[in-house]
Amino acid sequence: MKIIGTGSAVPSLTVTNDDLATFLDTNDAWITTRTGIQARHLLSSEDLYDLAVDAANKAISASGLRPDQIDFLLVSNVANRHITPGLSCIVQKRIGLSCAGLDINVACAGFVNALMLADSMIKAGHAKNILILCAEEPTKYCNWNERDCSVLFGDGAGAVVLTEGGAFKDVKLTMISDRDVLYYERGMETTPFEQHYVKGQPLVMKGKELFKTAVTESAKDIQNVLDYNHLTSDDIDWFLLHQANKRIIEGIRHIIGGPEEKYPTVIEKYGNTSSASIPIMLDEMLRANKIKAGDKIIMSAFGAGFVSAACLWEWEV
Ligand code: COA
Repeated sequence: MKIIGTGSAVPSLTVTNDDLATFLDTNDAWITTRTGIQARHLLSSEDLYDLAVDAANKAISASGLRPDQIDFLLVSNVANRHITPGLSCIVQKRIGLSCAGLDINVACAGFVNALMLADSMIKAGHAKNILILCAEEPTKYCNWNERDCSVLFGDGAGAVVLTEGGAFKDVKLTMISDRDVLYYERGMETTPFEQHYVKGQPLVMKGKELFKTAVTESAKDIQNVLDYNHLTSDDIDWFLLHQANKRIIEGIRHIIGGPEEKYPTVIEKYGNTSSASIPIMLDEMLRANKIKAGDKIIMSAFGAGFVSAACLWEWEV
């Protein structure tokens, strides 16, 4: 398969580190040096569904296809205010689609996992043109009285349209069952028979542990993809990595190799937008004409689970 259109959308409200310091015990110097984040966009007047529709419409328009030519909608979302129906059902009509769809939750690794599914569906002949939409509002599951998680995240949506082609070369998915490093538990209704009622609580994160696992596992996935395809980091033009922390990206780069310029970032502007982070960055790079036909690209992401994934492209236009 190949990507023929991308789109992205972030909320209109920009919140800087200094803005956060007005109500949290934090400061710009700490956040910038420890994470690389300078600002993030937070949902205020819009809702996640508006962002999702905006990003999807932009991707379809860039693809040159009509909405009725999209024959599957794959949505990646960790949580939104609807447990059911899925986000794909909620936005399908507003995007002007009539095709079937599916929601996946593989946390921040959702985009690369969705690429694997799209590739399999296209190869199996189940669909010709697929829209992947990653729409995330992680700021809605942080505890805003605490500084540990709330400074890291931002809201956003990124979308890509895929069709038949030979650009997508390989993918590697990893899952290590370990809930405790990062989780968000929702409270559910209780029944007269319930014996294990769990009250919901905001996102819980073991930052240091997660940092180390992220660097190690992401680097392992990338190295596996490189080795399997008889490539070295010198052969790769771009490493588009999940934007969780600039120091994590640096950690991965030190293992894999290559100059900083090959590891672009948008985390300064958007923080961690979960599974939307890679498609947002890809959209910005394509619109700035940074990616050319023939470029070899590695994408790699990780998140709650612990899950991680990497894939290889040789860009086709
Ligand atoms: N502002 C100011 N100080 C803060 C702070 C904040 N927002 N958050 C923590 N601190 C303080 C701590 O309280 C601690 O103070 P102490 O030394 O007095 O005890 C100090 O800064 C160092 O904290 P520590 O947790 O050791 O920092 P760190 O270098 O590990 O960075 C993270 C913290 C969260 C930025 C880092 O661990 C990380 O990025 N982890 C991965 C998170 C992630 O990617 N999550 C999403 C995955 S998809």
